[in-house]
Formats: sequence, C-alpha cells, structure tokens
Amino acid sequence: MNQISANSIRAEDAKHVVHPHVNLRKQPEAKPFIIERGDGIYVIDDEGNRYLEAAAGLWCASLGFGNARVAEVARKMLEEIGFYHIFRGATNAPAADLSAKLAAIAPEGFEHILLQCSGSEANDTAIKLVWYYWNAKDQPQRRKIISREQSYHGTTAMTSCLTGKPRFHNGYGLPFEGFLYTAMPYYYRNGLPGESEEAYSTRLAKELEEMILAEGPETIAAFWAEPMLGSGGAILPPKGYYEKVQAVLNKYDILLVADEVICGFARTGEMWGSQTFGMKPDLMTCAKALSGAMQPISAVIISDKVWEQMMVQSDRLGGFTHGFTYAGHPVAAAVALEVLKIYEEMDLVGHVKAVEPLFLAGFEVLRDHPLVGDSTGIGLIGAVEIVADKATKAMHDPALRVMAIFEDRAMANGLITRIIGNRVALSPPQVITADEVREMFARLTRALDETASQIGA
Ligand SMILES: Cc1ncc(COP(=O)(O)O)c(C=O)c1O
Repeated sequence: MNQISANSIRAEDAKHVVHPHVNLRKQPEAKPFIIERGDGIYVIDDEGNRYLEAAAGLWCASLGFGNARVAEVARKMLEEIGFYHIFRGATNAPAADLSAKLAAIAPEGFEHILLQCSGSEANDTAIKLVWYYWNAKDQPQRRKIISREQSYHGTTAMTSCLTGKPRFHNGYGLPFEGFLYTAMPYYYRNGLPGESEEAYSTRLAKELEEMILAEGPETIAAFWAEPMLGSGGAILPPKGYYEKVQAVLNKYDILLVADEVICGFARTGEMWGSQTFGMKPDLMTCAKALSGAMQPISAVIISDKVWEQMMVQSDRLGGFTHGFTYAGHPVAAAVALEVLKIYEEMDLVGHVKAVEPLFLAGFEVLRDHPLVGDSTGIGLIGAVEIVADKATKAMHDPALRVMAIFEDRAMANGLITRIIGNRVALSPPQVITADEVREMFARLTRALDETASQIGA
C-alpha cells in the first residue's frame, strides 16, 4: 500500500472509527496498525512487514488468513441468493447442511442447532434458553447464573454480566441482578502453599457449593464456563476441577453451559474443550473457528434434555419467540460448512494432536527463562507468565512497563501474541505446521531475551 493510501485510511479511522478497548480520546493520535493481507499463518501490514500471527487474530482464524477455496464458496452463494432467512416456514441449504454437520460432530445427545452471528449472541441466546428451560419445568424462580471471575463470554448487555471482569461492568451500571461469580481456577497463583491441584479443585468446588447453598439452590439456573479460560489468561483448569464442579452441579440440578467459543474445533486437542476436560454440558456455544472467523457466525448446540423442554414451552406459548434476521445466513453458513469440510479433510483433531508435543515442548523450555514463571499449554493454546521473581512469583513494578517492552520486542521480531496482564498467550491458527511452531517459539524467545536485556533482568 502506498503512503498516501495508508495516511488516508489512518485519517478516516481517527475521525470515524470507534475501536474496542482503547482510550477514545487518545486513539485518534495513535497510529493504527493496518493489516493488508494474509499468507497462511502470517499477516502483512501496509509497510510490507510480515508477522507470525500467534494469536490467530482474536483466537479465531483457525485456517490462517485468506483462503481462495472458501472465497469461491462465498462468492457463489452471494451470486446465487445473497440472503434468505430461516424464519417461520423457510430454510436454506447451507443452514440445514451446516446444522446437520454440527450435530454430527457434537458430543452424543446434541441434535439441535440454533445459528447466530457472534459468540456474544450465542451466549446471550443461551441465557434465554436456560430461562426458557426452567420456565418449561415450572421452576421460573431459577434465574441466577454463576460464572467465574475473569471469565469472558461477550459484551452484549447480558453477556457483559456473564463476563467476570469488573471492567466490563464499570460505567454501564452492570451487572444486572442475578449474576454471580465464583473463583477462577488459577492454580499457579491461587493454589495455597503445599496444596495439590486436586486439593485446590476440591476447595473451589466447595466454595461453589457454599455459594449455591447461600443463594438457595432452587434459585440457580446455570453455571457457565469456558472449558479453559481464554482471555482470562489462557489458564488450564487444575486436575479434577470439572469432575468436582460437575458433581456439585448435578447435586443441585443446575445446568452447565460450556462456552466453546475459543475452545471449540480442536483448540485444546479434542474437537470440543468439553471433551478435553471431561465436562458434560447441557448447552454448548461456539463461534470463531466455526467459520475460521471468515464470516460472522455462531451457534448454540442444544442437548436433547434442553430441547425437550424447549418443545414443551413452545407448545405452551404457541411458538419459539426468538430469532435474528441474519441467523442461518446462507453466505455465512456456506462458509462455515466449507470450513468444517476442510477440517474433516485435513483431520483437524489429528493435526493438532500431531503438533501438540512440539508446542508443549516450547512452553517446557521457556520455564527456564529468567523472565518466565508459569508456562503451560494444551492442544494449541497456552501462555507464559512473566514474573520478576520465579520463587515468590512477584510481578514487575508497573513503572518498568515490562509488558509494553515485550510487545514492542515481539512485534520487532515479527510476532503477534495476545497479552493479558502479565501473561503472553499463544493460540496460533490450528493449521500451523511443526516448522512454524519452532519458528513461533524462536521469535518468542528472542522477544523475551531482548525484554530481559532492556530491563536488566
Ligand atoms: C470464550 C468467549 N466467549 C464469547 C466471546 C464473544 O464472542 P464475540 O466477540 O464473537 O461476540 C469470546 C470472544 O473473544 C470468547 O473468547
């Protein structure tokens, strides 16, 4: 891109674009990063710099960036129909085929698919389905929903409440009543001295049970969890966590909703994060890698248990009163269907399992790095935690701006990561090859070394 075009894009952007997660007053002075095109797992900016995109954009570009095969499917669908809805008596082939395909790859006992446009919408809709379920069961008092501190489930009004990060509530008068937050599972920092992972999981499950009892189990509708916390820090659940949590939920007949928006589609090494971690959800939500992030599409995957009650309620009320214009959009659905075909042809789960040992070895080696405390992963997602003192796990003085230095060094080494507090998360496109995994860790190590030398660590 020539300098004049780049300058004009930045000028328009500064004047008109509202960006998520920036200081709105200062943003117009910033020089936004213009990504012009993709090449596999690399993206190329307006100045021709190539970056290995180790965050897959926003944990989503499973097939990398730019795909001619998928583009042709989208082009054809745009030409043939462009749009049609699935309201009332209508359907379209991509929405029907995609739903059948999703039901086929979902765990057993999940046959029905509610298509939406984003992860936030899928979770927002799943909240309504949870309430619909309890109304159908004549327990309308079951309204409260428990999620975890530092979890992320979206930013609609309702999913901002599910999200367990106070900064998503501040300034909006949120959360609404009835959203509760139990402790996040974060063994590295919150496990007690001498406490095993199993014992820590037991303690968290006990805390959850105490919360349920204090609130009244008959008022709790559902427990919401990302199988593995994504934007909370790419943090693995401790051993035994879901088994113990599930036992508490079963005891009080509380629904479990698995937010698979990041973890779905082999991110954690199995098709679903729920399978990796032994969760038995009643609803699953997915988005992102559902279409390789190439079209905005998401889904709520509904268990037979919930579906039965949805039919009861729909009989009672005369119909299921919920739907978005773009739900089951033929272009988005056709793209997602093609992406799922590509997953099948490449054996996505098999591929992730094949590169996983190398990916995990990268984290293992980094554990000895002077800046690194925690360093763990699974499948193709993981993080290193940057600390000032490995023994005490103390963090650096914020005045040192270590993470800003790290980010600068990573970019200078052609590496894009996701920085969350003092953690650096990696979740590269699932198509990453073994050589590219080595290259990613080589760049990360150089960025860490240069950061250490700048701060004199
Ligand atoms: C676990 C999880 N759930 C939900 C969402 C929200 O998805 P979207 O941004 O598509 O609304 C995200 C987005 O990052 C996510 O990570």
